[in-house]
Amino acid sequence: MRHQVDAAMGQESLSAWSAWSGHALVIGGGGIGRALLQGLAARAPHLQLWCSQRRQLAAEEPRIAGLQQFRLDVSDDDSLRQLQQLAQERLSPLRLVIYTAGLLHDDAMAPEKRLSQVNRPALERSFSVNAWGPLLVAQAIETALPRQQPALFASLSARVGSIGDNRLGGWYAYRAAKAAQNQLLTTLALEWGRRLPQVCVTLLHPGTTATALSAPFRSGVPSQQLFSPEHAASQLLDLLEQQTAADSGRFLAWDGSEIPW
Ligand SMILES: NC(=O)c1ccc[n+]([C@@H]2O[C@H](COP(=O)([O-])OP(=O)(O)OC[C@H]3O[C@@H](n4cnc5c(N)ncnc54)[C@H](OP(=O)(O)O)[C@@H]3O)[C@@H](O)[C@H]2O)c1
Repeated sequence: MRHQVDAAMGQESLSAWSAWSGHALVIGGGGIGRALLQGLAARAPHLQLWCSQRRQLAAEEPRIAGLQQFRLDVSDDDSLRQLQQLAQERLSPLRLVIYTAGLLHDDAMAPEKRLSQVNRPALERSFSVNAWGPLLVAQAIETALPRQQPALFASLSARVGSIGDNRLGGWYAYRAAKAAQNQLLTTLALEWGRRLPQVCVTLLHPGTTATALSAPFRSGVPSQQLFSPEHAASQLLDLLEQQTAADSGRFLAWDGSEIPW
């Protein structure tokens, strides 16, 4: 079943998640994360929505009714321990988790164009958020995952993390960290396939999307290839709603195509 709003009929067809109950958690409240929450609020009305953010929300941020928010820095072990406690006490059954935290640039780092720009602090920070983050979040929330109901653990990787697709070079830290994320979550999918066989693990490339992360790098992207966060989120949710446990371990682009590792 797919979620569609039929504007002509003024009716909303059933989403695969429309009958799901329990909790849904989006890690990271950036451009795509917020848009995913808006989409989930419409598609999964019986799921309690949670969002973790590294910082407090800006006052002008649009609010989502019923959304529970908490602070989480995925690079900080104390913060991850608090997530583990929250998961044990309040998040069961956790039916949907979408990891959207990501780091490409900030005041202290920029993607490298050449070898001389590579440095250890940037490599470590990139790996901490883009590679280890989703695995350590999976570890923290594992006890809340259901054993008898379908559940989904999705994470936003990136096509540039594909080794097979790397024809341009550059962006050492980000590429390598996303490639490492792909390996770590493939390994997780295999383990959960044995221990938590109802859980589907999915790696996603959202397409180039107009958020703070891509802002300095998208001047050459044709407008028809640049998604708004809402459009990107809608495509990702359409895709995720089709995934079942049998699909666990796939690396998919926004249009459903398989991306080479
Ligand atoms: N936009 C694109 O074109 C594109 C393309 C391919 C893949 N992706 C991936 O899609 C995901 C979402 O990106 P986006 O486009 O929505 O970018 P975004 O708006 O910059 O969101 C990224 C979020 O990650 C959070 N974050 C960074 N470090 C963190 C940490 N240590 N702990 C917790 N949260 C942290 C940021 O929090 P703060 O607000 O506190 O900084 C921000 O909210 C990322 O994984 C990105 O790599 C994006």
